[in-house]
Amino acid sequence: MVIKVREATIPITEIEQSAFCQTDEELKSKPLEEELEAGVQWQKLPISYLKMSPEELDTRIFEARQQIGERLVVLGHHYQRNEIIKYADFRGDSFKLSQLAASKRDAEYIVFCGVHFMAETADILSGPDQKVVLPNLTAGCSMADMAQIDDVMDCWDDLQNVMGGDVTPITYMNSAASIKALCGRNEGIVCTSSNAPATFKWAFERTGKVLFLPDQHLGRNTGSRLGIDTADMLLWNPFKPMGGHTEDEVRAAKVILWQGHCSVHTRFSVDQIEQARSNHPDVQVVVHPECFKEVVDAADLNGSTEYILKVINESPPGSVWAVGTEVSLVNRIAQENPDKTIFCLDSVVCPCSTMYRIHPAYLSWVFDALNAGVVVNQISVDPTTAEEARVALNRMLNIV
Ligand code: 13P
Ligand code: SF4
Repeated sequence: MVIKVREATIPITEIEQSAFCQTDEELKSKPLEEELEAGVQWQKLPISYLKMSPEELDTRIFEARQQIGERLVVLGHHYQRNEIIKYADFRGDSFKLSQLAASKRDAEYIVFCGVHFMAETADILSGPDQKVVLPNLTAGCSMADMAQIDDVMDCWDDLQNVMGGDVTPITYMNSAASIKALCGRNEGIVCTSSNAPATFKWAFERTGKVLFLPDQHLGRNTGSRLGIDTADMLLWNPFKPMGGHTEDEVRAAKVILWQGHCSVHTRFSVDQIEQARSNHPDVQVVVHPECFKEVVDAADLNGSTEYILKVINESPPGSVWAVGTEVSLVNRIAQENPDKTIFCLDSVVCPCSTMYRIHPAYLSWVFDALNAGVVVNQISVDPTTAEEARVALNRMLNIV
């Protein structure tokens, strides 16, 4: 038997995560040329867009958008910058945006202001003649990059050998289409942060065990919410044989958690929550379930970005909220609720560096190209992968 041991590798997107961290709470866009100084990968685009001021870009985007008209629908994830989200026809969390991508069949083009896995999902769920565009192809997701398909297939083979089929794969939306496809062809399912518990229940009605990819924290928080002891959840290290465990340990586990995490949400800590409670005795703390379990346990509420938005929007005037999620969304909720006190748990302003790569210059470029009859940055998943991934996505859309 050949034992494969590989050196652990950190995704580039993870290394680049802190590139935009700053103390300026406003997070106002600068000309792209200046933002290029942040040490991250950027997609090349025509040089004329580099020097344009945010105001100039705004005028251009507005005019180009008017010209394209109803042939286009723009979807925007809640973590997008204000200068981008204002052009979204629909805003939402990953689940809502996937539903919208599946239902907006009249538009010829879907420009997805979000990250790569979201645009892939939109391509899989949209009609065969619709074209999905991601304005900047380097807008990935460091968590999704932590689950590479070859490693996941090795893990799946090991689990089949040890468990003889008594395991259902669940992949978080934040994963490549190839991993969703693996779930589709192996009786598995996709989930988002808004429906993870429902998909766990669905899986446990079929098998005794679950493999959850790629976010260990969402998996652990969800298992725990359903009453599964953390001792029955095992962390799978893809760089070690058998994930770093004995066969007996793997056989005994109920939930196998892939060793992935979100570099934005793992910045939040119990200390920050205690500090918020001591500064604001009336504070309510709401966090995203990609945070550490200790943080979710110490918070009052947790849920998807759409949930966080809704619960704060619906709270009475004068409410005080400490929020553990991406800062562009927290700042926007604060701006839209001036009668409440709303702040991010983390005092350092650290936007998601991949979401932040959708700079207005890119939006202007893709709109101008559409008006010139050219589709740039089309995201197109190969038909076999798309068909298998669609099976797993539709299972999710049908149960929630
Ligand atoms: P939501 O589905 O809650 O929007 O989360 C997506 C995401 O990437 C959070 O980091
Ligand atoms: Fe990925 Fe985290 Fe950014 Fe969400 S916030 S897109 S999980 S890196």
